[in-house]
Amino acid sequence: MSYQNTRIADVAEQLKSRFTELEDKTEILKATELKALYAEIPTLTAEERGAFGKEINQLKTELEALVAAHKDEAEALPSIDVTAPFDVNTTKRPQLLTANRGSQHPLMREIAVINDIFYRMGFTIAKSRQLDDEYHMFTSLNFPAGHPARDDYDTFMTVETDANGHPLIAPAHTSTMQNRLLIKYKDNLHSDRPIAVLVPDRVFRNEDLDARHEHTFYQFEGIYVDKGVNAGHLMATLKTFLQEYFAQEIEIKTQPFYFPFTEPSFEFALSCPFCQKKGCSICSQSGWIELLGCGMIHPNVLKMAGIDPNVYTGFAWGSGVERLVMMKYGIEDVRHFESGKLDFLRQFV
Ligand code: DAH
Repeated sequence: MSYQNTRIADVAEQLKSRFTELEDKTEILKATELKALYAEIPTLTAEERGAFGKEINQLKTELEALVAAHKDEAEALPSIDVTAPFDVNTTKRPQLLTANRGSQHPLMREIAVINDIFYRMGFTIAKSRQLDDEYHMFTSLNFPAGHPARDDYDTFMTVETDANGHPLIAPAHTSTMQNRLLIKYKDNLHSDRPIAVLVPDRVFRNEDLDARHEHTFYQFEGIYVDKGVNAGHLMATLKTFLQEYFAQEIEIKTQPFYFPFTEPSFEFALSCPFCQKKGCSICSQSGWIELLGCGMIHPNVLKMAGIDPNVYTGFAWGSGVERLVMMKYGIEDVRHFESGKLDFLRQFV
């Protein structure tokens, strides 16, 4: 619709562009610019008044039609099938909060801090996947078919199957990326550079939910391979990271553990950054907090990626992100992170 009066035409243009941004579309009908135009009517001469008034009414009708059309469109949106793949090509999208009303999620912010520390130590950052196959979840990590340790990773599977007839898997750890990344970066080794990759991403487990367990959470996996790498390098790397992250001296300790993809394997704990080992509620009075699993990459895992374990050795670890962030900010319940509660999220703006 075009307007003869240039001021009305300007307001019409402004309001139509604002309309697309508005969350509550009906607010456009209360725009102060529209009220100001109406307020002008009594100041006009009798001749001007007719045409001016008619055009404002026209503008109001046009805006009302936009609001009504939007309402119809919103009502026509099909309900969301949560099991369907996310359709990036859909023309009708659910309305999202505009970017200027949102803020970065605390986990994403902390992942950026973690990435930055490892980046400065020479690590490349890689992403994982939200759906993977049996080979990367298990076989390539030295869990052969039927291995009892497969049961430790209870996660979600799809009805669809991969080329070998196995269901696809929502990855239960970021270790699923080890084989791919060892293959991708193995040429580094031939030019005397280590493989050093960090994989921060989302993982899934079929957990009974409570203040310490979520079905969807984040891990950061580290992989480092070169000639002459030993467990001392692993401990020094993790200790350096923790001291940077908590900006204080940290002690570390390990005890033997079992993972099929590392030999030896360790459970790794840090001295409590809250009480400096005196004992507090965060560390359950023990002075120590168990944080992650780690070890020297199993020769079979290197072999499956085409790396000779007689020449090269490496270490790897997998740590939860939430655990660290909860410690850093004194967050008492892991379920806050996925809750979408604005009163929680706004504390991190
Ligand atoms: N993927 C293991 C888990 O989530 C953690 C882990 C342990 C990762 C040892 C590693 C590792 O890379 O070497 O339980």
